[in-house]
Amino acid sequence: MDIRTVGIVGAGQMGNGIAHVFALAGYDVMLTDISGEALARAMATIEKNLDRQVSRGKISAETKAEALARIRTTQSLPDVGPSDLIIEAATEKEEIKQRIFADLLPHLKPATILTSNTSSISITRLASRTDRPEKFMGFHFMNPVPVMQLVELIRGIATDQDTWDTLHEVVKRLGKTAASAEDFPAFIVNRILMPMINEAVYTLYEGVGSVRSIDESLKLGANHPMGPLELADFIGLDTCLAIMNVLHEGLADTKYRPCPLLTKYVEAGWLGRKTQRGFYDYRGETPVPTR
Ligand code: CAA
Repeated sequence: MDIRTVGIVGAGQMGNGIAHVFALAGYDVMLTDISGEALARAMATIEKNLDRQVSRGKISAETKAEALARIRTTQSLPDVGPSDLIIEAATEKEEIKQRIFADLLPHLKPATILTSNTSSISITRLASRTDRPEKFMGFHFMNPVPVMQLVELIRGIATDQDTWDTLHEVVKRLGKTAASAEDFPAFIVNRILMPMINEAVYTLYEGVGSVRSIDESLKLGANHPMGPLELADFIGLDTCLAIMNVLHEGLADTKYRPCPLLTKYVEAGWLGRKTQRGFYDYRGETPVPTR
């Protein structure tokens, strides 16, 4: 199937990055969110990140203008219904995602492919509540979307080969690389990444190292671009906890139990960069460890 128009549901951190890369690749994008403020913030972020690419010589000012012109925004969910491909990138809560798909169904074309950018929720279960489980897939982008090379393609039990092939072509047109994952809790990237982050929090909790020494160790000792606690703040501690809970419940293995200190930070509302406090405090000029 030839994909030309793409509807993106949710204008947060992931939704705006996804809109950015699709518009740059020449797709017509309709971005929707219930909040007009979130849509305005998303457009400002996309413009800032495109400017960054212009100033580094990655794209021209003309390409930036063309990409921006390809993105339309709407607060009305049914407006994205007629798209060839829909990517749900709303909050990582299953009941919210289920509601969005239920509300979208009456407005879809028969051929529309439905996808979710979920980082851990069962694709098969999300698909089973729609009228097109064979045209439903997990389409998982990494943050920051314009920079990260990988996209995970997750096949639900009923997903057909045409749908997988179509999305594989889309990933190639975005200039990214696809990894194929089966539909088990947290797929590939988060199945491996989150237990590492959770272990870093345990290392802090047990006093083995400080925030700084843990992050420095992984940056300098394992060549990671960010330390695990800095990365947790970047992803959002609520998201990290939600994924650990999915692993813990879905695989029923105590090795995935979330660290109580991670739970404590989330209870405090210290969710990382987005709330300006997590393992670091971002309110000043430079981030300061909070423990
Ligand atoms: N949009 C466009 N370009 C961006 C950008 C954005 N949002 N953020 C950074 N960039 C670009 C910069 O312009 C720069 O470009 P050049 O190489 O052309 O100079 C490049 O990316 C590097 O940026 P910086 O120099 O500002 O900063 P950095 O070197 O410290 O890199 C980083 C920043 C790319 C975020 C790097 O620290 C990194 O790779 N961190 C790890 C990120 C990661 O692991 N992401 C996956 C998280 S897991 C996930 O997303 C899955 C999930 O479900 C939770």
